Amino acid sequence: MARETSGFASVEAAAVVVTCHVAPPSVLYSNVEVSGVLPVSEPSKTIETSALAVPAAAAEPSMDKLRIIGGRSLRGRVSVGGAKNAALPDLAATLLTGDPVELTNLPGVRDVRTMLRVLEQLGAVTEATERGVRVVNERLASFEAPYDLVKTMRASVLVLGPMLSRHGRARVSLPGGCAIGERPINLHLEGLAKLGAEIALEHGYVEARASRLRGARFDFAQKSVGATENLMMAATLAEGTTVLGNCAQEPEIADLAELLNAMGASISGAGTDEITIEGRRALGGATHPVIPDRIEAGTYLVAGALLGDPLEVADCRPQDLRPVLQQLRLAGVKLAVEDDTIRVSAAENLTAHDLRTAPHPGYPTDMQAQYMALMTQAHGASVVTETIFERRFMHVGELQRMGADIRIQGKSCVVVGPTRLTGAQVMATDLRASACLVLAAMAADGETVVDRVYHLDRGYESMETKLRGLGAEVERVR
Ligand code: EPU
Repeated sequence: MARETSGFASVEAAAVVVTCHVAPPSVLYSNVEVSGVLPVSEPSKTIETSALAVPAAAAEPSMDKLRIIGGRSLRGRVSVGGAKNAALPDLAATLLTGDPVELTNLPGVRDVRTMLRVLEQLGAVTEATERGVRVVNERLASFEAPYDLVKTMRASVLVLGPMLSRHGRARVSLPGGCAIGERPINLHLEGLAKLGAEIALEHGYVEARASRLRGARFDFAQKSVGATENLMMAATLAEGTTVLGNCAQEPEIADLAELLNAMGASISGAGTDEITIEGRRALGGATHPVIPDRIEAGTYLVAGALLGDPLEVADCRPQDLRPVLQQLRLAGVKLAVEDDTIRVSAAENLTAHDLRTAPHPGYPTDMQAQYMALMTQAHGASVVTETIFERRFMHVGELQRMGADIRIQGKSCVVVGPTRLTGAQVMATDLRASACLVLAAMAADGETVVDRVYHLDRGYESMETKLRGLGAEVERVR
């Protein structure tokens, strides 16, 4: 049960408060000795206005729509960019050193711009490079990741571990629920507390302090990508050894460990369910290429399975896509895999095949909506079960408006196909739901207008340009 200690919410209290959305206890820091915290300096300026470090107004959601005429074949080669979900923790990791860190193969998506703004708010100097960005976190301008930024992107919470570990203090707005689920951060907080952090929740913020984190063993009660990343980063500067158990195993975690090791950290086991981190006194600079985006690649593979004539998905890492490739093959999609390229053609006999999302190496929840678009064109009934997020069927109502035969039954959907989809005005509700609607629109008869494309812009770089290059009839309208 929730318990309070000396003015601070205990870990149990933090977990209960965050999970249940009960008002957090008001807590004070009066009894806490904090040392090793750097003096807060004036905010530093971005030395060059980069294409990525755009000013606040330009990073705001636009009211753009996509107008798509369906039925066009897709032919040619599409290049996959850097992974959004690797770039975000990689950017947060730059906070662990005052030396320059350069990330290459950085995707030009809105979430990356938001993370750069979070870092700049904390004092980072960012500079666009030819293929990415160079970040220097020499002087701290603020301990706070404010609500205005965190509410637009939950991954902002990834600055908590590195800030706390390097500067002894961090204040980050609680992200709250989102369109696809409640998404509490109790595991992040429990883990940091296990490393010795004092955690308080007040006025919608998490405030964490520690003179120096201490290595410990921590087993996650449930697999979490973000919590694994936050803890792994925090432990790099802790005193002694940290062993994290029941870790998430997504490829983005191994990518982050590779960057951290290049910065001088000592991490082994990333990509397995147990990660060991030997704490270091300090980390230094590095240059690191962000891995290719497996979800962007998977989305284009589904486009190819629907309309490819043939379509080549290039610059991807097929090994990260194994669960997706396996599922597509089970549905009758023919795939030719070669080094960093996968060739796919429209499947003549798509067959309905059930799907269940699961943590890696299971089938990714971020590819569930796209698979459902494919299943509307498959012969038979498939049951699509979502096990990671509570509300990740927001695309279903819009697919139904386009003519799909889908019934929601609790955590599952029964999709009966093939159905003739017809163009309609539809509304994107989150990033992957938007991708699903674009896929359905390309398979549909006539014109579809997808509204609220800003969701898509969070994670897909120039999707309409890439699709047009393949022969799709897609335009962005205001
Ligand atoms: N969870 C908790 N407590 C926590 C953390 C997570 O209960 O402290 C629960 C979540 O509510 C969820 C499950 O654990 O039910 C898994 O969440 P996880 O922490 O793994 O998700 P995340 O780190 O917040 C990342 C991706 C998501 C992706 C999920 C699952 C980033 C920036 N985001 O989120 O990506 O769906 O892992 O693979 O890496 C997307 O790109 O569209 C997207 C939503």
